[in-house]
Amino acid sequence: MRALLICATTLSMAALGQDGQKLIQGSDCSSCHALDRQVVGPAYSEIAKRYAGQADAANKLAAKIRDGGGGMTPHPDLTDAQRAEMVKWILSQAAAAPGQAESKSYDYTLKDGTKVQLDFPLFVEGNGPKVTKDVFHGYQLYNSYCYRCHGTDATGGQLGPDLRRSLATGMKQQDFLSVAMTGRKEQGMPAWAGFLSEKDVVDIFKYVKGRSLDLVPSGRPPSEQD
Ligand code: HEC
Ligand code: HEC
Repeated sequence: MRALLICATTLSMAALGQDGQKLIQGSDCSSCHALDRQVVGPAYSEIAKRYAGQADAANKLAAKIRDGGGGMTPHPDLTDAQRAEMVKWILSQAAAAPGQAESKSYDYTLKDGTKVQLDFPLFVEGNGPKVTKDVFHGYQLYNSYCYRCHGTDATGGQLGPDLRRSLATGMKQQDFLSVAMTGRKEQGMPAWAGFLSEKDVVDIFKYVKGRSLDLVPSGRPPSEQD
């Protein structure tokens, strides 16, 4: 009886191709982790290196996936077997080479004449008016999911702070991504991991950055798709 059960489980897992990597792709992990670079949480390759050769690594990491903490969401709905498969895959990624960071820069002149440099473009050409696809995508997402609390076109709302101000007073892309993915549930800020991807939130950041610098106008900005 027992042998039969195990056999059936193994078969159905193989049939669904549920190995660790697929399970990770199907969960919210990719909102916060990447193979070879830090997103909100550490790179899988970093985790693999950190725990290489440690006997209790698998149990410790599986418990972390179950319980979360320190900015990571808990995953009580996964089975022990699923968490173990995920850990097995993560621990096998030590050899991944570190990702190459892009280091281009883009210069903009603000309305008061101040020059600023960004590491991503806001506009297709020069100082506008057509925004990039990424910024336009950020505008659309912002005005679908964030505007309700943070105000239409990032102008500040009743329920959440003015995000233009957050960026103007020094909030970096990395912090923005962390708060957006992890949320601050006690303060009324939802967690977006699993619903929005890393790229989605970075695009929202780009849009809000453009608004914060008063380079991207309120309302629907002209875009390269127009
Ligand atoms: C909301 C963002 C977020 C999500 C979603 C998330 N993680 Fe994490 N994860 C983190 C952060 C942040 C840390 C570092 C926590 C700490 O230092 O205590 C972390 C830590 C970990 C660690 C332990 C690293 C260590 O060195 O101890 C593992 C393993 C891990 N995550 C795997 C996963 C897997 C697998 C998933 C999906 C099932 C997932 N995470 C989903 C943010 C996230
Ligand atoms: C249900 C209301 C609500 C929605 C929807 C919401 N937020 Fe928030 N958000 C808040 C609140 C409230 C805070 C302030 C939390 C605090 O007091 O620390 C906040 C804070 C933040 C902060 C940190 C700002 C700072 O200065 O520390 C960021 C970044 C953020 N939100 C991004 C987003 C993004 C991106 C979206 C859309 C994907 C979004 N929020 C949607 C309520 C919301």
